[in-house]
Amino acid sequence: MKIGFIGIGNMGGAILRGILSSGTVSPEDILICGRDPLKTEAQAGELGVTAAEHRKLVEECGCFFVGVEPGVYADVMPLIAEAYTPDKICISMAAGITFRKLQDWLGDDAKVIRIMPNTPARVGEIMTSVSPNENVTEEEAAMVCHLFDGMGKAETVPEDLISAVIGASGSSPAYTYMYIRGLAQSAQDAGMTEEKARVFAAQAVLGAAKIVLESDQTFDELIDAVCTPGGATYEAVTYLRENGMEELVARGAGAAIDKANQMSKE
Ligand SMILES: NC(=O)c1ccc[n+]([C@@H]2O[C@H](COP(=O)([O-])OP(=O)(O)OC[C@H]3O[C@@H](n4cnc5c(N)ncnc54)[C@H](OP(=O)(O)O)[C@@H]3O)[C@@H](O)[C@H]2O)c1
Repeated sequence: MKIGFIGIGNMGGAILRGILSSGTVSPEDILICGRDPLKTEAQAGELGVTAAEHRKLVEECGCFFVGVEPGVYADVMPLIAEAYTPDKICISMAAGITFRKLQDWLGDDAKVIRIMPNTPARVGEIMTSVSPNENVTEEEAAMVCHLFDGMGKAETVPEDLISAVIGASGSSPAYTYMYIRGLAQSAQDAGMTEEKARVFAAQAVLGAAKIVLESDQTFDELIDAVCTPGGATYEAVTYLRENGMEELVARGAGAAIDKANQMSKE
């Protein structure tokens, strides 16, 4: 089956490159469509895939990703609908573009999967949710999850949890970069070069994230395992606790969740 990509920006482009480098789909079976045909031809040439305009792509592909900005859906979905038939799977990655809106464009019998990926797809460490609508079979949902093999992790969630995914993983690379910058700044302030401080901070976050994924200990147990009472870590943890660091992060991610919920209602 051929796979299409409509919108090959940061997110769609990262998933496309991830699929190509994992070898799950061969380049001959991939069609892409961007906003500007000349730019799309150049991207297709660079990636070894085929450029097509919207209708042609949908006609030829059994499954296609829509990776345009939420505000562009109103322009792109009517073009898709012209060539769409309900045996094709439409995979949408936009915040706020609900099943209801997608089925209003494609029909109530349309097979629609919403995904909420994140940009670490670029480095083979995506976290994406997969939410199939009622017209998608279990085999079809499994096939879409399989596209993410070798690119990180994919988990199925119901549509009403997509906003939670946005707060915890879709948007969170941005605030994780802020945290890493804060760590690196502390090392720079203590005399380390910017380059080295970046590596120390980022590798520490990567390692800690791996421990969280591989361990069955609670967060408090993991924190306690690094703290010696009276030691340096204890000082930092006490300061951050007294200043409400975790509550602040949860409220920040909560703002992304609220915004996503609001976008779904518009
Ligand atoms: N970035 C993230 O971390 C993230 C995470 C989860 C979900 N998402 C979702 O992913 C979607 C894309 O986000 P993004 O960050 O990848 O945005 P982006 O980098 O701006 O990419 C959007 C792409 O869509 C293309 N496009 C615009 N109009 C088009 C049209 N009429 N036909 C075909 N392609 C068109 C743009 O082409 P030009 O560049 O030529 O304008 C651009 O390549 C959004 O809906 C967003 O909510 C993003």
